[in-house]
Amino acid sequence: MSPQKAQDRIETLRRQIERHDRLYYVEAKPEISDRDYDRLYRELQDLESEFPELRSPHSPTSRVGGEPLAGFTQIQHRVKMLSLDNTYSEAELRQFFRRLQRGLGRDRVRVLIEPKIDGVAVSISYRDGVFISGATRGDGSTGDDITSNLRTIHSLPLRLPSGIPPNLELRGEVFMPTEAFARMNADRLGAGEPAFANPRNATAGTLKLLDSSIVARRPLEIVFHGYGWIDGDPPFASITEFQQLLDRAGLRRSERTWHAEDADSLLEAISELDACRHTFHYLTDGAVVKVDPLDLQERLGSTSKAPRWAIAYKFQAEQAETRVLSIEVQVGRTGALTPVANLEPVLLAGTTVSRATLHNAGEVRRKDVRCGDVVLIEKAGEIIPAVIMVRFEKRRGDEKPFVMPDRCPVCDTPVVRDPVQVAIRCPNPECPEVVRRKLSHFASRGAMDIDGLGQALVDQLVAQGWASRFSDLYSLTEEQLSGLSRLGPKSAANLVAALQRSRSRPPWRLLFGLGILHVGSTASQTLLAHFEHLDAVATASREQLEEVEDIGAVMAASIHSWFADPSNREEIERLRQAGLNFREPERESAPASAALEGETWVITGTLSRPREFFAGLIRAHGGKVAGSVSSKTSFVLAGENPGSKAEKAAALGVPTADESDFLERIGEDRTN
Ligand code: IVH
Repeated sequence: MSPQKAQDRIETLRRQIERHDRLYYVEAKPEISDRDYDRLYRELQDLESEFPELRSPHSPTSRVGGEPLAGFTQIQHRVKMLSLDNTYSEAELRQFFRRLQRGLGRDRVRVLIEPKIDGVAVSISYRDGVFISGATRGDGSTGDDITSNLRTIHSLPLRLPSGIPPNLELRGEVFMPTEAFARMNADRLGAGEPAFANPRNATAGTLKLLDSSIVARRPLEIVFHGYGWIDGDPPFASITEFQQLLDRAGLRRSERTWHAEDADSLLEAISELDACRHTFHYLTDGAVVKVDPLDLQERLGSTSKAPRWAIAYKFQAEQAETRVLSIEVQVGRTGALTPVANLEPVLLAGTTVSRATLHNAGEVRRKDVRCGDVVLIEKAGEIIPAVIMVRFEKRRGDEKPFVMPDRCPVCDTPVVRDPVQVAIRCPNPECPEVVRRKLSHFASRGAMDIDGLGQALVDQLVAQGWASRFSDLYSLTEEQLSGLSRLGPKSAANLVAALQRSRSRPPWRLLFGLGILHVGSTASQTLLAHFEHLDAVATASREQLEEVEDIGAVMAASIHSWFADPSNREEIERLRQAGLNFREPERESAPASAALEGETWVITGTLSRPREFFAGLIRAHGGKVAGSVSSKTSFVLAGENPGSKAEKAAALGVPTADESDFLERIGEDRTN
């Protein structure tokens, strides 16, 4: 095929695919089968690989994601992304309407009502009709450049049709449809990966991934609801007309909107919205009310934070009533026993709920939840609902009180009461349930990130008696593994390679993977940034641990007692023998100066960079960093809203420094 012919054919294919994407993802009215779509797509792919000079970032083939980024750069919004005032009460909504009437000096004010989408706000830019960039809200003025992640969203057109202003900054909400979210979470749990709490967290987490090829596999969608910048005067006089423009452009918007001109009909529209909100594909946590005509919006204006012409009305959390069929006890990776209620299935916030967490035995007692009770359950943005209260008036008398077992339901070891937490635990480190959960946590993406070692495989290893400790994983051989059912020689080799890669992971991942009670991923990173070597964490006294910023007494005690346990120390030695990395990568090794030699600093309040950044500077200049103020403190570095540490410093006569004092002390001024 001649290059000219190829170019024509490529353009035709792109137009056809764009049209089918729009029919499928925006209008939900597909015209062709998946197979026919795939055929067009494959032809385009083939032509683009034969004529690489004809590839383009606006081609539908670019949605599969690209090379991982090292980090996000920042994008400045041309127009600030404001937030919205919000209210939960009808009375305040009426007040809002009265303010509009007063501000505009008229009785009837036309407002538009649409669902408030519980997603992540983004700004989308088109230049010359082509999608060029997209950003998160960030601080309202600048946000993260997440262009390559947004490009993977099929409902986001990469080109605009003619007749649409070609230079635009649009505002919308990215979300994960409720059902696709549920499916994705089930897959993750199956793979031993942590589930996301709700679709919004899943969306936010996905948009922050640096590898857009992973994003491309997550079910994200976008709905547009506003604009920031348009070249010249907007070619519309109201939001209603703006929505017509979105429709012409193939930009998806909320499928239903209402109009009202007085407070009563406004409230009526909102209750209609409330009644049908579960038919939407996204979670809706309220209604957004906006003055429709742009000239009236302009007259009302905005404060520095939010427009005066709009408000969000938030719905109360959803509740439902159902019956407790049984209460079962689950064992977690720390051995904690958690009571879970099995419920008569009930529809709540658009999904069928058949289980609810009861958190712990104390809570079951306090709420007096019994088997057979009718209970009120609530879902407040979270996907796992909680039992709020028992409908005592509906008791029949045959409900059975729940008794926390005094033996582990899995291994029959007598349970112990954790004096610090309210928890009741299985103390047996060899409890099969504890072991399988521990190992899969160790291997999980957030910890040692051992590719391919999900819960199912962990279960097989445990069942074979091949792994009960972390270190056992590192003596698994390819030969041994390829004998497992459902694991061919190729996967066995991949797993051994993944284990090999995990040996050199930074030690904070190892610390987190050990699953020490209370020690999360952030604390692990903080601890290793401070101590630089796992052995230094292991041998630190409680006091030394507590001196680290953000490490409290409970966590310090937990870490200290974990490493004091001889069997844990033996395990650490086995991991060392297995060749795991215990040392943080070298940072600036030579001290930058001795300006703070002999001084002890305490950091408090909000600074312009993370505290660990300033802690690093203090150490680099010869100083020490402590977690709490005492008479031995030399200085307190205080940011915004410094709180009790600054008060204590004042009481003890310890001098405080702000960020610029501090930078001056170490001989660095703000400009570098
Ligand atoms: S209009 C000046 N319409 O909610 C802001 N916003 O809590 C005008 N949101 O910043 C926003 N659904 O990110 C508008 N239908 C909708 C919305 C919506 C969700 C988000 C938006 C806004 C935030 C405020």
